[in-house]
Amino acid sequence: MQKLSRFGCSLLAAAALAGGLRAQSALNAAACLACHGQPGIADAQGHSLQIAASAFTGSVHGALGCPACHSDIRQFPHHLPVAKVNCAKCHANEGSQLRGSVHAAVMRNPAAPACLNCHGSPHAILPVRDPRSPVYPLNLPHTCGACHGNPKLAKKYGLPNVYSMYVDSIHGLALTRDGLLVAATCTSCHGSHAILSHTNPASPTARAHVPATCGKCHAGIEAKYFRGAHGQALRAGVGLAPVCINCHTAHSISNVHTAAWQVKTTAKCGSCHARRLATYHDTFHGQVTQLGFVATARCWSCHRAHQILPASDPKSSIARANLPATCGQCHGRVTSGFTSYDPHADPGNRRRYPALYYTARFMNLLLLGVFTFFGLHTVLWFSRSMSEWTVRRGKP
Ligand code: HEC
Ligand code: HEC
Ligand code: HEC
Ligand code: HEC
Ligand code: HEC
Ligand code: HEC
Ligand code: HEC
Ligand code: HEC
Ligand code: HEC
Ligand code: HEC
Ligand code: HEC
Repeated sequence: MQKLSRFGCSLLAAAALAGGLRAQSALNAAACLACHGQPGIADAQGHSLQIAASAFTGSVHGALGCPACHSDIRQFPHHLPVAKVNCAKCHANEGSQLRGSVHAAVMRNPAAPACLNCHGSPHAILPVRDPRSPVYPLNLPHTCGACHGNPKLAKKYGLPNVYSMYVDSIHGLALTRDGLLVAATCTSCHGSHAILSHTNPASPTARAHVPATCGKCHAGIEAKYFRGAHGQALRAGVGLAPVCINCHTAHSISNVHTAAWQVKTTAKCGSCHARRLATYHDTFHGQVTQLGFVATARCWSCHRAHQILPASDPKSSIARANLPATCGQCHGRVTSGFTSYDPHADPGNRRRYPALYYTARFMNLLLLGVFTFFGLHTVLWFSRSMSEWTVRRGKP
């Protein structure tokens, strides 16, 4: 039997060499579907081998016929096992990009090409711009989420459950709830075939590339960011310089106008500028912030959010000449006396704020004095009451 089929195979190969095209057209889709279109066709293990003819002809490969992919099948019964289909034979670019990606190792499935994890059933592949395609922007979060929303996989690879964070983010809601095609989906930031870990410096999600990745859509903000101190520090290679995701996160990006985000982000600025946060909390503006109110001046009300510049830069919103405009956003009739109010006055800094320093010292001493005096007073009063009480109890 084995011999016979080898013999058959070489005969067929000879025939194919002689009149290749004729042999190919004999094995067209209709010929294969004569058996594989039948319900109930199965292999020895009972695994169904039925192909939905209409889905195949409607697919992007419908016109190619079956042997375009199953190129080793040239006889009946088939020479088993049949060779695995190699998609990269025709899609060399995608094949090599996937081989170099973070998924190369993990998507290897002995039963099917890795491509099918994202492109779905091999016999019903649709153009990527077809709304039914699993890689159509609206369907992508779900396609990537089949793995990245799977708690078991997340645990095994030590990855967060990105899918659930993303779908509740402003981008996720815009895409899945509002159907906004221009909102960021997984591949807008990660690419599709050449996906790399953010720890790889060549990745679009590596820190140094994040502003440009977000800037593909938020171009105006990217430009402001690079004109500001943080963008310049990033360019200069300062390791601590914040990029977009330090303040906005990567997958839980929310509306910036919510109270929760504003309170959290004030603390975020303070995670690097700790002393400035502490002094801010001592001011009128900071006191109400701590109570959770939003309608007050926050770090970026005075410093801007993206084009943040040091006071020494004449273009800065906190340069002396620009303070009336900056404070004037909220305070009417801003005088030079008013702008001399320092939003970061630091009573601990004697060199810069001598008057404040000594006043604070004096107030602290006064406070200490008052407490010591009344503390002593209370102790003496108590011991006097005690002795009066024992004297009174001693009496019949
Ligand atoms: C005469 C009926 C018949 C025709 C025509 C036919 N097949 Fe099959 N095919 C089968 C049967 C039966 C099996 C199951 C073989 C087994 O597992 O023992 C099978 C199995 C297969 C398999 C799966 C092998 C595996 O890994 O389990 C592929 C792929 C396949 N056929 C493709 C084709 C293609 C492509 C054509 C057209 C060129 C074709 N077949 C034409 C009957 C047919
Ligand atoms: C775009 C390439 C492509 C084309 C065209 C194609 N197949 Fe397949 N087929 C695959 C892939 C990929 C698999 C999964 C197994 C593998 O990797 O070989 C597969 C598996 C199969 C199987 C095994 C059963 C299964 O579902 O796993 C059968 C039977 C089969 N194909 C028949 C056909 C027939 C019949 C046609 C034409 C109507 C056809 N194929 C056209 C790529 C293709
Ligand atoms: C991690 C998911 C994923 C995997 C794995 C994957 N693709 Fe794609 N593919 C996509 C997405 C998403 C698109 C949509 C276009 C885009 O974003 O580039 C796409 C688009 C395509 C296109 C259309 C051309 C283009 O760039 O627009 C082809 C062809 C393609 N993929 C083939 C393959 C092949 C072949 C494989 C396996 C070697 C594969 N893909 C593996 C996600 C994937
Ligand atoms: C024999 C060559 C060949 C093989 C093998 C092949 N394809 Fe294709 N594929 C094509 C051609 C040709 C087109 C373009 C059809 C068109 O534009 O109408 C295409 C289109 C596609 C598209 C849609 C691209 C778009 O721009 O929307 C995807 C996705 C795709 N193939 C994925 C695959 C996957 C996955 C496999 C493996 C299961 C595969 N292909 C195997 C030839 C092939
Ligand atoms: C707006 C851009 C953007 C979108 C949309 C996006 N990501 Fe990310 N993703 C990033 C950035 C940036 C990082 C790197 C985070 C870091 O440095 O901590 C990242 C990291 C990851 C990681 C690694 C997490 C880790 O902590 O190691 C995974 C997995 C991931 N993304 C998957 C996805 C999936 C799946 C989707 C769609 C559901 C998606 N991403 C959507 C920008 C994005
Ligand atoms: C078949 C399951 C599967 C699918 C589908 C899948 N991934 Fe992954 N992905 C993984 C696994 C597993 C890892 C972990 C690889 C490792 O750490 O070696 C990974 C890693 C990643 C990483 C790198 C995480 C890191 O270490 O920083 C990113 C980014 C990522 N995937 C994004 C995507 C995007 C975007 C899609 C959809 C276009 C997608 N993945 C689809 C399984 C999948
Ligand atoms: C140091 C923290 C920080 C960094 C870094 C940062 N942002 Fe922002 N971003 C903010 C703050 C604070 C707001 C809120 C501004 C407001 O309430 O007016 C904001 C607002 C936004 C908005 C809302 C629209 C708008 O114009 O106010 C978008 C979009 C945005 N940022 C995107 C980005 C992008 C893209 C990057 C990277 C190039 C980035 N951000 C870097 C803090 C930051
Ligand atoms: C593919 C384009 C695209 C990319 C890439 C992208 N965004 Fe967005 N982003 C949008 C769109 C569109 C909206 C508006 C959604 C809405 O209003 O419903 C948005 C909204 C936002 C908002 C909320 C603005 C507000 O008014 O509150 C922030 C913040 C934001 N994006 C930050 C980022 C960051 C940070 C990155 C990079 C990690 C990024 N975006 C990447 C398209 C994109
Ligand atoms: C991840 C750390 C980090 C976060 C978060 C951060 N910054 Fe910065 N900031 C820096 C670094 C680094 C510089 C550049 C310092 C330098 O060049 O000496 C800087 C510079 C500044 C400057 C210019 C003054 C100077 O010393 O050059 C101001 C003002 C400023 N940041 C305000 C903010 C505000 C407001 C926020 C929140 C919206 C914020 N920063 C969030 C690290 C951070
Ligand atoms: C009411 C306006 C206002 C608010 C709110 C505010 N600042 Fe400032 N900030 C200023 C002014 C004015 C200066 C310059 C005077 C000074 O150095 O004290 C300054 C100075 C700074 C500097 C040093 C700039 C330089 O050129 O060296 C940093 C860093 C800074 N602020 C961070 C923050 C952070 C972080 C917050 C929020 C926790 C914040 N600021 C809140 C107005 C404000
Ligand atoms: C985003 C709006 C906003 C900006 C910008 C702002 N403030 Fe205020 N400020 C307030 C509000 C609101 C109050 C009332 C108390 C409170 O709710 O914080 C206040 C209170 C004050 C007070 C104490 C009460 C009073 O009115 O005398 C002083 C002093 C003050 N701000 C100074 C400044 C200075 C100086 C600047 C510019 C460097 C500035 N503020 C920028 C919103 C702002």
